[in-house]
Amino acid sequence: MQVREARSPLRPDLYPKPCTLYPVFMARGFFLTFEGLDGSGKSTQLRKLAVHLEAQGLAVTVTRQPGGTRIGDRIRSLLLDSKTESLDAMTELGLMFSARAQCIAEVIAPALHGGNVVLCDRFTDSTEAYQGGGRQLGSETVLRMHQTMCGGLNPDLTLLLLADFDQSLHRARRRNDRSATAEGDEGRFEREDELFHRRVYDKYREIAARESARVVLIEGDRPIEAIHRQIAALVDERLRSVGLLPRLPAASVR
Ligand SMILES: Nc1ncnc2c1ncn2[C@@H]1O[C@H](COP(=O)(O)OP(=O)(O)O)[C@@H](O)[C@H]1O
Ligand SMILES: [Mg+2]
Repeated sequence: MQVREARSPLRPDLYPKPCTLYPVFMARGFFLTFEGLDGSGKSTQLRKLAVHLEAQGLAVTVTRQPGGTRIGDRIRSLLLDSKTESLDAMTELGLMFSARAQCIAEVIAPALHGGNVVLCDRFTDSTEAYQGGGRQLGSETVLRMHQTMCGGLNPDLTLLLLADFDQSLHRARRRNDRSATAEGDEGRFEREDELFHRRVYDKYREIAARESARVVLIEGDRPIEAIHRQIAALVDERLRSVGLLPRLPAASVR
């Protein structure tokens, strides 16, 4: 993780709701999260967007959840390794938020405070979809915990990649089979049955409908480059609107 010098102007008007634990969030930066089922293309698109934004001179911080810190990565192995057995659903929920709180404190808050664009691979929407929906703990339990553990930090923009359901599972399986080692793998959730993943999928759709201003649905069954072009255009536009990228000259606006 790299935190570079601030470039963005102060835009407190963009943050109508004050954050209680982390007032620094109100100052500047832009917090963007990627969401979707395993295999929907989040990490692929996040990497490409980071390159695109850096090429425009923006300071970009890339992180992921669970994980993103040394402590978080230890929690990640416990949560994702398919050798982890009999983890209670509430314990799972608590560990997800513990890793998140650590990532906010160590990575996200300092980066936003420094004016960076933060790209985060999964955030609280994942917890609402997997633990709230998949494990059936319910949205309310997750969102209450979010308020406590994340100090009211919400993404400025969330890109929800929705590819065909079977296609996503297939892609994730192939990728996980390739990356599994003798020390561990990241396939614990992938081993859940189809009903579990359907509940996750439905919960994601519910979140997108409820928070349509924040969450943008991205059709994931297209070539990687086509999806990237759509995301890059959308994000550039948002960053221009908050003053992190220069506005287009009037002549180029048709
Ligand atoms: N639009 C796409 N079309 C075909 N394959 C894709 C696409 N996006 C990603 N992939 C491939 O699918 C696999 C999972 O993608 P990944 O970005 O790791 O998904 P996620 O991070 O959402 O789990 C990778 O092998 C990746 O190369
Ligand atoms: Mg990924």
